[in-house]
Amino acid sequence: MESISTTRLSAYVKSELRASHAGETGAVWIYRGVLAVNWLYQDRDIDAFAYQHLQTEKQHLQGFEDIIHHFRGSLLLFFWAVAGFLTGAIPSLLGKNYVYYTIYSVEAFVDEHYAIQLEALSKENHPWLAEFLSKMSDFHADEKAHKLQALDAMTKPPTLLMKLWGKLVAVGSGIAVKLARLI
Ligand SMILES: [Fe+2]
Ligand SMILES: [Fe+2]
Repeated sequence: MESISTTRLSAYVKSELRASHAGETGAVWIYRGVLAVNWLYQDRDIDAFAYQHLQTEKQHLQGFEDIIHHFRGSLLLFFWAVAGFLTGAIPSLLGKNYVYYTIYSVEAFVDEHYAIQLEALSKENHPWLAEFLSKMSDFHADEKAHKLQALDAMTKPPTLLMKLWGKLVAVGSGIAVKLARLI
């Protein structure tokens, strides 16, 4: 029989789960931001793309919501939602390729984040967590698919300004992960 200490998640694992829960919250709101602005433009491609991705992100978020009693959610969730919304809304005002390149930049970041996180968390000895990690690795596969879909959807190579914006989004995502681990 397992002792209580081995069934408790370490502070490290909790902080990682908190960061990913915050990230999936942000992801849901990115697509809500895209869809809100696209309500003005009524672009069918963007609508289908964002709606399909939104459904997947909602499933990811639900995955973390289902286990949120094992960790404390970020106290900045409202802020992550607003930041996510703006990350989707701003490029939507600038054109389709901006939207696709933003999603590519976010998902490239998330792909790397999940890869490093899964590798680190797989070393944690916890029976319940092992089961959840297999779910997280499915999420990781979805993020990779999102990244490639966004890149495929681009009609032109990214402009320099677009690349700068993408860099800003990636740097912002990195700061958000660091903050969400703590707060
Ligand atoms: Fe996700
Ligand atoms: Fe995603």
